[in-house]
Amino acid sequence: MIKRLFFLLVGLAAFIRISSAQAVTQQAQSPNGAIQGSLVLTEKGEPGFKVRYKGVEIIPFSKLGMALQGHDLSKNLTLIGKGTASQKGVWRPVWGEVDEITDHYNAIQLELKSKSGIRMNVVMRVYDEGIGFRYEFPSDENPPQIMIEKELTEFQLTEDYKVWWAPSDWDSNEHTYKNTPLTQIDATSYLGDIEPFNQRIFNVHAVQTPVTMQSATGYCMAIAEAGLIDYGALHLELDRDAKRFSARIIPTTDANVISKNKTPFHTPWRAVLINSSAAGLLTNRLILNLNEPCKIEGDLSWIKPQKYVGIWWEMHVGKSGWNYRDLAAKKLSTNHGATTENVKKHIDFAAKHGFGGVLVEGWNEGWDEWFNVNKPEVFDFTKPYPDYNMPEISRYAKEKGVKIIVHNETAAAVESYERQIPAAYDYIRQNGFNAIKTGYVGYVLPKGEWHDGQYMINHFNRVLEKAAEKQIMVVAHEPVRPSGLHRTWPNFMAAEAARGMEFNAWSKGNDPSHELTLIFTRLLGGPMDYTPGIFQVELNQFDPNKKDRVRTTVAKQLALYVDLYSPVQMAADLLENYEKRPDVFQFIKDVPTDWSETRVLNAAIGDYVTIARREKNSDNWFVGSMTDETPRQFKIKLDFLEPKRTYEVTIYEDGPKAHYLDNPYPVNIRKVKVKKGQTLKINLAAGGGWAAKFDR
Ligand code: NOJ
Ligand code: CA
Repeated sequence: MIKRLFFLLVGLAAFIRISSAQAVTQQAQSPNGAIQGSLVLTEKGEPGFKVRYKGVEIIPFSKLGMALQGHDLSKNLTLIGKGTASQKGVWRPVWGEVDEITDHYNAIQLELKSKSGIRMNVVMRVYDEGIGFRYEFPSDENPPQIMIEKELTEFQLTEDYKVWWAPSDWDSNEHTYKNTPLTQIDATSYLGDIEPFNQRIFNVHAVQTPVTMQSATGYCMAIAEAGLIDYGALHLELDRDAKRFSARIIPTTDANVISKNKTPFHTPWRAVLINSSAAGLLTNRLILNLNEPCKIEGDLSWIKPQKYVGIWWEMHVGKSGWNYRDLAAKKLSTNHGATTENVKKHIDFAAKHGFGGVLVEGWNEGWDEWFNVNKPEVFDFTKPYPDYNMPEISRYAKEKGVKIIVHNETAAAVESYERQIPAAYDYIRQNGFNAIKTGYVGYVLPKGEWHDGQYMINHFNRVLEKAAEKQIMVVAHEPVRPSGLHRTWPNFMAAEAARGMEFNAWSKGNDPSHELTLIFTRLLGGPMDYTPGIFQVELNQFDPNKKDRVRTTVAKQLALYVDLYSPVQMAADLLENYEKRPDVFQFIKDVPTDWSETRVLNAAIGDYVTIARREKNSDNWFVGSMTDETPRQFKIKLDFLEPKRTYEVTIYEDGPKAHYLDNPYPVNIRKVKVKKGQTLKINLAAGGGWAAKFDR
């Protein structure tokens, strides 16, 4: 009986194979063989893909496809060609976490045609660190313009992964993260939350990308996108019963269209990062590799990783304000922050301590009327307030060798900003500066556009291009989440695009696992302007009733400079708070923003991380370790050091009985001598951190 059943099954399998003779599968292995990616066209002409990792199918057949206006590209497609390709190369980022990045993959391609005559290629690259695929619409035989109604990509999962996710919000990224099983993703609790105030969540079972997962056996996977150009951002809608994500692209003002494109066109890459552990995710370069090489030609020495201070936190904690006038009271404000005198004080401080930049907010006309709904386009980017003497500031900054990072808060009034960009950027250069911080607080104007839609993506990218033409570096606040575009536009230094330090000053704040989640999610796509370095953790300095605080120890603020990578890092606290603790401040002065090597010594998503990095063009190493609300002890092996050399280590650690809630301030500073192969003990307080500089 068993024998007969066996034969029957074998016969059945043979039958299926024959009947599906027209199905096509193209496969590629990653260079080390651990990952296998497949592109499939079923016998019904439906495109799809699959991923195997170490012999296990972790993404079974998942649908691919596109719905164009008038053309269904998800079934009845014919195969008109296929191909394979391979590449192995090494490239050097202009700045970053490492000197060199290996770009090594095997690629496959299916060339498809719909019954209605539209040609679409699906290309997949398989790397040791995951896979990436995209849709391409060649100009040959295709109309000059296509209207995309829906992207039909799906990610079929097999396991109820632990997922670190933030809700799918079409207008804001400034949310806390949650960690739940996949099948329990539910953003209902975010609805009606007034922070961020311009949130737009339409599906509580949807998430933003990158979204990061860990399997019961420990491997990690993140679904993200790379090279987001001329298309809406990728969000993922979950079918909880089926354990399946489907792409959700934020629409244009035409609710039925997600993207209008001229052919030839290709979508951004859909990337699946795969690593055996959480630590691996942090050195995964898949997203960067999928992006195009640098497009800025000529000398790039104007692109400078740097640290900066600014007239900024003082506004958030209530010492000063952005406004020059108090229109309601019909008088001048009494606490305008961006005065010539205050800027000079900051320039002096930056020059004294070796910082390249001073961010100044509230320097230009417009702030007083920002919230006047009858006057939506308020900001003028070439008109300083009367108490901000631009020629004098420009002269003084030059004398001191410091540059102002010029704030361009647009309030998301995009047309107004685009009109002013040529003059605004010339003005910045004429005054001797070369960096802007953009801001897009609030709902987008023109109405009906979203921060994550194609219109805004094109705007954000145009800013990078226009700024590059004028040799200006960009730090963007409230933009879309980065997708590795800093490889192509290395003047794109950092983006906020997540919930930053500022939320600690005026909201329910960020809990101690927040930064430890950001590193494994949002930061996979690119650096964040998080603005670390708060020493005065309790924020009642100017208002005794202010109960807000940063939920951290001071030592953890130091570790952030190593662990939250960015080529621009703010020393965000008030100058007077640094002046009170020069010994602790020394670490912020010393820590670089550009690195040659990066080693992740331990990591657990949302819980803890320890990272060692070697300073660019130097033999010095820096280590940052930090934890969530749980105190932890680690022993780290100093394998990363060079053999036979003695290093002098300056350690900044949580002092006795430090605790993020009731004893955040003590930092114990000590020096030890070490050699390669030795171990060091790390003690982290609750909400604590550990930072060290290894001098050779
Ligand atoms: C929000 C930004 O994130 C913050 O850095 C800035 O100070 C305010 N908007 C005002 O533009
Ligand atoms: Ca913000």
